[in-house]
Amino acid sequence: MGVRDSAEWQALAEHHREVGDRHLRDLFAEDPDRGTELTVTAGDLYLDYSKNRLTRETVRLLAALAESVGLRERTEAMFRGEHVNTTEDRAVLHVALRDPASSGLDVDGHDVRQEVHEVLGRMAEFADRVRGGAWTGHTGERIRAVVNIGIGGSDLGPAMAYLALRDYSDRSLTFRFVSNIDPTDLAEATRDLDPASTLFIVASKTFTTQETLTNATEARRWLLEGLGGDDAAVAKHFVAVSTNAEKVAAFGIDTANMFGFWDWVGGRYSFTSAIGLSLMVAIGPERYRELLDGFHAMDEHFRTAPYEENLPALLGLISLWYTDFFGAQSQAVLPYSQYLARFPAYLQQLCMESNGKSVTLDGSPVDVATGEIVWGEPGTNGQHAFYQLLHQGTVLVPADFIGFARPNHDLDGMHDLFLANFLAQPRALAFGRTAEEVAAEGTAAAVVPHRVMPGNRPSNAIVAPELTPSVLGQLVAAYEHRVFTQGVVWGINSFDQWGVELGKVMANQLAPKLQSASAPEYDSDSSTDALVRLLREGRGR
Ligand code: F6P
Repeated sequence: MGVRDSAEWQALAEHHREVGDRHLRDLFAEDPDRGTELTVTAGDLYLDYSKNRLTRETVRLLAALAESVGLRERTEAMFRGEHVNTTEDRAVLHVALRDPASSGLDVDGHDVRQEVHEVLGRMAEFADRVRGGAWTGHTGERIRAVVNIGIGGSDLGPAMAYLALRDYSDRSLTFRFVSNIDPTDLAEATRDLDPASTLFIVASKTFTTQETLTNATEARRWLLEGLGGDDAAVAKHFVAVSTNAEKVAAFGIDTANMFGFWDWVGGRYSFTSAIGLSLMVAIGPERYRELLDGFHAMDEHFRTAPYEENLPALLGLISLWYTDFFGAQSQAVLPYSQYLARFPAYLQQLCMESNGKSVTLDGSPVDVATGEIVWGEPGTNGQHAFYQLLHQGTVLVPADFIGFARPNHDLDGMHDLFLANFLAQPRALAFGRTAEEVAAEGTAAAVVPHRVMPGNRPSNAIVAPELTPSVLGQLVAAYEHRVFTQGVVWGINSFDQWGVELGKVMANQLAPKLQSASAPEYDSDSSTDALVRLLREGRGR
């Protein structure tokens, strides 16, 4: 029996037939306390979910669905270190990475908390040495630039968080993040750097990823060329973050300069593992601990709060309400913070690599829609680009608005104007403007339909006092558990990513066809073969 056949799902389907078409204008008129009561606070985060197309009964039914699929038991199983990633037969324990307890969680014969704290201690020591100038390069110069080379989960977390927490970073150091195998990424990142004062952090869980190893090889060539070719320089300018010591050594990085993590940390859940090393160097170990504590606070909230008051679970269930009962396919994330410019990109991997699945845990096809296309840009830039479609387009795009009461900078009170936009957009989306209201303003009859704002476009507002390391941790953990909540309801494995493998295999097959001096065998498909010919010609081959 699929989730669709369950009594709880059917109750939601029935309820949707009753309330799905109701307008937010009416829901607010009928329930004057809605705006203060359909809210939840978790740590520093305040979630106002009142501008969603739901009633208190919807929330009750969604919570009942979560209970009925065993979300609570599955959460406990994850926290206990059971192998909930069944297709890879692995525990899923990113929550252990931020647990302040430094011993006492035995998984597969290892005390994972102890191992986590041991690595955190080494990271802190290293970060302090780089920040304080004790770690010097091959020629004795102190490190001025740190370049993280990694991709996907080995890039997006630290890259997003470095930007988010730039205000807390050591401004005397330069940080760059290289991910793309497009050679321009590395070339642009290093063009103004001095090899003598540059440190590379090669971050890869597997240490087999083509993009990262290719970039790291090129970076080593750039370094040695700049420092006179002495191989001994590598030890002073390259450190690795990985689960694979053997491959790190084979690449030529001394494993004494390696910061390990474990197979129970999924790539897109690895930001709080040693993958966060570049961020720790940027903001320092104390701030980094605040970040981890923020994560941990949200982990505990998720684990213990009833689902009707559980911020991450509500985010997941409300989003699922739109995906499965309204047929929505996408979800906008709209941070009103320039510092969170990379947050939507980070969430794209977290949400879409996790829940872009079409079979359930037992391998049978899912019987409901899963996953959603996550996208977004910081406000107010998005307002002048794609909000038109959100307001008057024909597709339903639920949106998460994220804002902060206090700015990290306030130039001449600009933040109030910024917040006014943060408030105005969800309000316009929800309540719109009727034809009568438009006409009453003296609008010509022919133009009225064009100016009508239908409203009833749902959104969440997530508000925190200020963007601090702890708040960032709370926010990211909330979305992690949002993804988990949805995955459990859908009965899918949110922790594997087999769908990205085939493209990697094909790229490895196609590379020699582009590289070979003589004409390769054209044995792919007619489209790919023609494109190979075209690109070879473009490269003068
Ligand atoms: O794209 C697939 C993926 O495996 C991601 O899940 C992962 O974050 C990324 O590649 C990078 O992998 P690695 O850290 O092993 O280099």
